[in-house]
Amino acid sequence: MLPKKIQSLWMATTPATDYPELQSGIEVDVVVVGGGLAGLNTAYFLMREGLKVAVVEASYIGTGTSGNTTAKITSLHNLKYNYLKKYFGLAKAKIYGESNEWAISKLEEIIKTEEIDCDFGRLSSYVYTFTESGLQGIKEEIKACQEIGLPASFIEKPETPFPSKGAICFKNQAYFHPRKYILALAERIQKRGGYIFERSRASSIKQAGDKQVVVTDKAEIRGKHVVVATNFPFFDKGFFFARTYQSRSYVFSSVGTKNNIKGMFINTDLEDKKLSFRPHKIRNKESMIIGGEGHVVGEDGEENHYADLEKLANEKLGPQDVEFIWSAQDSMSMDRMPFIGKMPMAKNIYVVTGFGKWGMTHSVICAKIITDLILGKENSWVKLYDPSRFNLSASWPEIKNSILRTFKNYMRKFEKKKEFNAKDLSIGEGMVADIKNQKTAVYKTEEGQIQMHSAVCTHMGCIVNWNSEEKTWDCPCHGSRFTPEGEIINGPATRSLPEIKTSRQASV
Ligand SMILES: Cc1cc2nc3c(=O)[nH]c(=O)nc-3n(C[C@H](O)[C@H](O)[C@H](O)COP(=O)(O)OP(=O)(O)OC[C@H]3O[C@@H](n4cnc5c(N)ncnc54)[C@H](O)[C@@H]3O)c2cc1C
Ligand code: FES
Repeated sequence: MLPKKIQSLWMATTPATDYPELQSGIEVDVVVVGGGLAGLNTAYFLMREGLKVAVVEASYIGTGTSGNTTAKITSLHNLKYNYLKKYFGLAKAKIYGESNEWAISKLEEIIKTEEIDCDFGRLSSYVYTFTESGLQGIKEEIKACQEIGLPASFIEKPETPFPSKGAICFKNQAYFHPRKYILALAERIQKRGGYIFERSRASSIKQAGDKQVVVTDKAEIRGKHVVVATNFPFFDKGFFFARTYQSRSYVFSSVGTKNNIKGMFINTDLEDKKLSFRPHKIRNKESMIIGGEGHVVGEDGEENHYADLEKLANEKLGPQDVEFIWSAQDSMSMDRMPFIGKMPMAKNIYVVTGFGKWGMTHSVICAKIITDLILGKENSWVKLYDPSRFNLSASWPEIKNSILRTFKNYMRKFEKKKEFNAKDLSIGEGMVADIKNQKTAVYKTEEGQIQMHSAVCTHMGCIVNWNSEEKTWDCPCHGSRFTPEGEIINGPATRSLPEIKTSRQASV
């Protein structure tokens, strides 16, 4: 039986935070918008260089994707290096490997220097496959890795509890408890004079003389520089809405596992459903973290992702005693490379996005690149991750998918929805209906009350879908998500869905 409550292992085993809201205007050297791993690592690096920083977080730090990840810290990102060799060239593939390997060591160094107790450990990372075509991909990947000096090896019989065709192995990779790390890092930043603000959603950035001003509901905060680290950029001068999309995945942790898994595993992208797993010891209990079921946010509302993932895990890994279930989304770039660097067409504004579900290392890489850019230091990684790049051949397959998706979603505006009848709606469910010629997101509360909000996403006007598994309104265009009451859960939207008050509301 799966638990009813959706909460990550990381959230359940760490205290809540309570940093102040931004109530009045202040000035710092750098304003970092977003309190996930990307924002906090960047703030930490900048602070270590003597700069005055402020982190402005819409919700609570470490409750976004970083608090709901699987936290494998690795430079083995599925079959990435052969892809990079083909579309970016060997030299760039080498930089990707170098920067990611550096990030693992840097993270370990920070954890040691700052004496952060976050269950950090070293472990091998594997990409395995069930299929012949996957095996071919693995062999080509190993060849590409060896060409750029990465220590990849082929394992014919990886130690998985099920038979596979083989795996690629990177030794000496790592894992940790991301929330323990985040909370400790934020404390260190604040202790050394940095600011952390929570419940302070940034809605825009404007220029005032040589300063940038980040605008939140209650106050404005000024800085010479601003870093947009909100996972999907809320402030977008680089057309990131058209160059990235958001993908959601599902995770659970099981306890008392008998599998004795000694590595972090994920299967290739080819042909099969994803099954990612890794061990984690928590409260002296061996547990396993299992993930998969990735899909574009808002695409499907009637799926059973948790149950399907459990079924696959039971089949491959044996019966699971599931303790926590959760899900999260990450931004994916069309060319499968993160965007880290200067925000195009903006002065002193920087952006990080498109980690493609490999953000543990990239959140450290982005901290280094952005810090060097702000300090005017040379950094040989800048070009590879440059947000202004456009690699058509690498991006084309995803661009094609995205055009089709956007067109389909845009046309939903003109679809006639069925006549709304409150009796058709079950308790705790939602639907989009045409009410007085308005696309309306209708939700029936646990108490049987009908709530209505505009179904038009406040980001760029697409129509949201009801997600009955997570009880949220999800936008299929760029992945914004809202609570049943229309409050923002995930950006890029910066405004809630407006409430619609009608006489009908009172009568149902
Ligand atoms: C299910 C899943 C499993 C994953 N597993 C792994 C893994 O094993 N290894 C790995 O390397 N990577 C993994 N990833 C990817 C990794 O977790 C992410 O890339 C990383 O956590 C992203 O960090 P972030 O700081 O960019 O985003 P977040 O952690 O989401 O932080 C962004 C923050 O910005 C805030 N924000 C948003 N809008 C605003 C605004 N307007 N104003 C102020 N604040 C705002 C949000 O509230 C949020 O707290 C996984 C991703 C998923 C979805
Ligand atoms: S997230 Fe862009 S239109 Fe909804």
